[in-house]
Amino acid sequence: MPETPSWETIALSREEGGIAVLTLNRPAKRNAMNPRMNEEAAAALEVLRYDAEARVVVLTGAGEAFCGGMDIKEFLVGLKDKPDEYDRIDRLTYEWRARTLRRFPKPVIAMVNGWTFGGGVSLVESCDLAIAAEDATFGVSEINFGMFPAGPVTRSLTRLARPRDGLLHAMTGRPFDGRAAERMGLVNLAVPRASLRDETFALAREIASKDPHALRATKESFWLTQEMSHDAAQDYVSAKYHELTQRQGGSWREKGAQGFLDKAYKPGLGGRSA
Ligand code: COA
Repeated sequence: MPETPSWETIALSREEGGIAVLTLNRPAKRNAMNPRMNEEAAAALEVLRYDAEARVVVLTGAGEAFCGGMDIKEFLVGLKDKPDEYDRIDRLTYEWRARTLRRFPKPVIAMVNGWTFGGGVSLVESCDLAIAAEDATFGVSEINFGMFPAGPVTRSLTRLARPRDGLLHAMTGRPFDGRAAERMGLVNLAVPRASLRDETFALAREIASKDPHALRATKESFWLTQEMSHDAAQDYVSAKYHELTQRQGGSWREKGAQGFLDKAYKPGLGGRSA
């Protein structure tokens, strides 16, 4: 991993198998996203973007929380008389959570280890995949302090949760656990806390074993075609096909497809061993 600055609110580590772990690291504040954390998380993603050894990113939280949402003290209240600074951080948090993560050229998996509120829910949504501890507690809690799910939170709910589940929780602020998050579609899977790390890393390693260019094309096509007509999507994916072939130097055809034709493996049942 390239030289990194010394972080105050996040941590970066590299694990075996091409996995990088980005940890929100303000456990005493339940990993609430203060202005500094938004700046550091955005900067950390730029480090990971160009780190060839980081093939899959796991996003998690230190201590009892995944993410307690936007920092109510330092952001919502602390910047009330500083509109320009409020605007800067508001744009930055939208940028890294709702745009950078979604357009990130590598898969990102949320490992939801505990409290996840407000902006933390939209953070889970912005990751490509998510695994939660069954007893993690989620909430769209803004209504409980007289607010509404602002920033990207409402949009995150409407994209993933069934509409009546999303509105029920937005209107009541009722907390729900990892199992309910799985039922609602906010996470792929809820697992016992004791196996959260193993399950998440097993998935991360499985994905990291795939071709990184093909993963990037998979992710970009998945996210971007959602906003296109069928015709536009077809044209875009056709261009992506040629882009991927060029980026790989044609290896999917010469090695991948040819390996099947040579009866070296069956892609329907798993990947080709390197
Ligand atoms: N913004 C700012 N500070 C936060 C925070 C947030 N979103 N979430 C937690 N904290 C801080 C608390 O103020 C407290 O700080 P202090 O020790 O300086 O007083 C510290 O984190 C621990 O919080 P505490 O409430 O004592 O921990 P808990 O484990 O009993 O409860 C929560 C955890 C997450 C249930 C509770 O802190 C909470 O309800 N937080 C707000 C969640 C929320 O509504 N988020 C949406 C924001 S838009």
